[in-house]
Amino acid sequence: MWLYAKSMTPIPLILDCDPGHDDALAMILAAHNPALKLLGITTVSGNGGIAKVTLNARRVATLANINVPIAEGSGKSILGAFEEASDIHGESALDGAELPQPVMELSSLHAVDLIAKLVRENSEPVTLVATGPLTNIALFLKMYPNLKTNISEIVFMGGSASRGNRTPYAEFNIWMDPEAADVVLRSGLPLTMCGLDVTHQALVTPEIFARLEKMATPVSKTIIGLLKFFAKTYDEVFEMPDPPLHDPVAIALLIDRSVVKSRFANVQIELNGNLTRGATVVDIYNRLGEKANCNVALELDFDQFWELMLQAIGKIDATK
Ligand code: BDR
Ligand code: CA
Repeated sequence: MWLYAKSMTPIPLILDCDPGHDDALAMILAAHNPALKLLGITTVSGNGGIAKVTLNARRVATLANINVPIAEGSGKSILGAFEEASDIHGESALDGAELPQPVMELSSLHAVDLIAKLVRENSEPVTLVATGPLTNIALFLKMYPNLKTNISEIVFMGGSASRGNRTPYAEFNIWMDPEAADVVLRSGLPLTMCGLDVTHQALVTPEIFARLEKMATPVSKTIIGLLKFFAKTYDEVFEMPDPPLHDPVAIALLIDRSVVKSRFANVQIELNGNLTRGATVVDIYNRLGEKANCNVALELDFDQFWELMLQAIGKIDATK
């Protein structure tokens, strides 16, 4: 188990994402909490193709008054595979509400090069948070190995210590690019895995919808539209009427480590299994005797998580 002190100065981070309903909320939490300093946003194909998720990231940034560089990244996995998650996120990858047209420019850099630039130029080590497939992060580690010393930690939403959601054993983000996940897990950097075990506790319950309704701001109304769509597809596909808001959990634990309970364990990626490719093999009881390489979040403080998430949403209109 790792112990982290609450940081006095804001934690510098880069968010690599594939918006995506829960990614959109992760962007909002990363940008609107004083414990964090969001340096940039990069996109990776996942919930939708790369053009869709990049447009979505820029539209969410416009909606939520997020003014950081945004760069487009990989459109395919390291081995060249790609599929969308339109069954969950809709045709646009962010269905359910009308979002503003983007006002912010797209960076001319590739995501991997923007990550390198931001990491190189920042005086403090930077945290990378990934809420999509790990393609950009793996490419960054391979292309810029000299910058690894400027990374304090990689936190990723992905995997599971139990079962998957894209296949019986593989969670979607890891399934999309298992080779990239393998590079990250073998990187030797401090890692925190925020898998389905913990994110399936971040449910958007009727009480949370009621609190959003009460806010009655333009942004909260848009978010309700998005989350109602997400609730409908989660109910249809997974029989979960209260959908899990996976991605912001990876941001919330950076703000306050006590939001999750976690366990340090050896985690390896199954690359070859006929039925288990993309599984995160989490050795909770250290039966393999391998070195622990990852802090695995397992339990969520639901109230604390939602307090942080709703506070961030509530701050948006006021900061315009
Ligand atoms: C993950 O897959 C995507 O659909 C979500 O955005 C989240 O990152 C959950 O398995
Ligand atoms: Ca995501």
